[in-house]
Amino acid sequence: MFSGIPPPSSWYTTHMIILGIETSCDDTAVSIIEKKGLRLRSLSHIHYSQIKTHARYGGVIPEVAAREHTVTIIPTLQAALSRARMTLTRVDLIAVTQGPGLSPALSVGIDTARLLSLLHHIPILGINHIEGHIASVWPIEGIAHAAKKPPPLPALALVVSGGHTELVLVKKFGQYHVLGKTRDDAAGEAFDKVAALLGLPYPGGPEISQLAALGSRSAFDFPRPMITSGDDEFSFAGLKTAVRYLVEKRKRRTLPFKRDVAASFEQAVVDVLVQKTIRAAVHQKVRSIFLVGGVSANAHLRQSLTVASNAIKVSLFLAPVLLTQDNATMIAMVAGLSKNKGSLAAARRMRAEPSWHLT
Ligand code: KG4
Ligand code: ZN
Repeated sequence: MFSGIPPPSSWYTTHMIILGIETSCDDTAVSIIEKKGLRLRSLSHIHYSQIKTHARYGGVIPEVAAREHTVTIIPTLQAALSRARMTLTRVDLIAVTQGPGLSPALSVGIDTARLLSLLHHIPILGINHIEGHIASVWPIEGIAHAAKKPPPLPALALVVSGGHTELVLVKKFGQYHVLGKTRDDAAGEAFDKVAALLGLPYPGGPEISQLAALGSRSAFDFPRPMITSGDDEFSFAGLKTAVRYLVEKRKRRTLPFKRDVAASFEQAVVDVLVQKTIRAAVHQKVRSIFLVGGVSANAHLRQSLTVASNAIKVSLFLAPVLLTQDNATMIAMVAGLSKNKGSLAAARRMRAEPSWHLT
């Protein structure tokens, strides 16, 4: 088996079955993909969301998430194998999210991967979760609306989720430079907190965007933090506070009021994300823009960034909706696109990296 030996050039022509495992936050996910030369194909994509559990607390509690991963990971694995009509004996590589994420949650996926690797002698590869979101725009057969061709590089990736808001320069696959990130709340976190202020359940993103579709985007003039800061940093805490002041002052929070707050808030977030992404894309002279992560499911953001990237004639790669939320297909895809084929030795020493920065 492999341990530290550089991959042979045949890596690009080999046939492999890759098992992906993702447990970094509140989704328990296992996927199986097939790599044939440079082509990837989805064989199974199983995803169990813990939303119902966390909705009771209004957010994700790491220990609760870990406990639930422990209960669901094996049935999720069994479902992924059965959907792909195979047993573990056919798996050539296990790709598992190593970080960033919630330490106790990550550890459940890593310990499961370690056990499978050591019992079945399957090499294991630790994957960066953010790189997983970035990989979600590469072509993969069997996933609806996946790209047909690999994106032209260099690219600029806007990674927007509940835990992250980052602009990442993708020089090559596997070679990144983080241009800037949020100084406080992530965009998804702001959606979740504003939703809570309006009495909507967790996670707030989909709820806010549904309400926003029926409200006025100019009803309230919320701040657009750092929109003209001239750098690639973000900040959403001030925007959330502005919404809080408005909502707390209002005695009768009618449905039309909530719709207008949701629409004006969503517009403020979208304005900041789109304007800063386009500025960075022009500045970095990239050949494509990626929109990935949980918040990239937002229809208004997808539409606004499409219009704005058309205007600067840079092609936009949107994560297929199935791959916007945390999932294991994107984790397996990183392994499929990478030259690194993992090792057995990694299984013995792998630990969660809760703050693993992409470099
Ligand atoms: O990527 P993801 O599943 O998990 C993290 O890595 O955080 O992202 C979850 C986040 C949540 O904050 C959720 O509210 C947000 O993505 N989200 C949305 C939408 N769908 C999910 N935000 C805005 N609009 C949506 N349609
Ligand atoms: Zn994520």
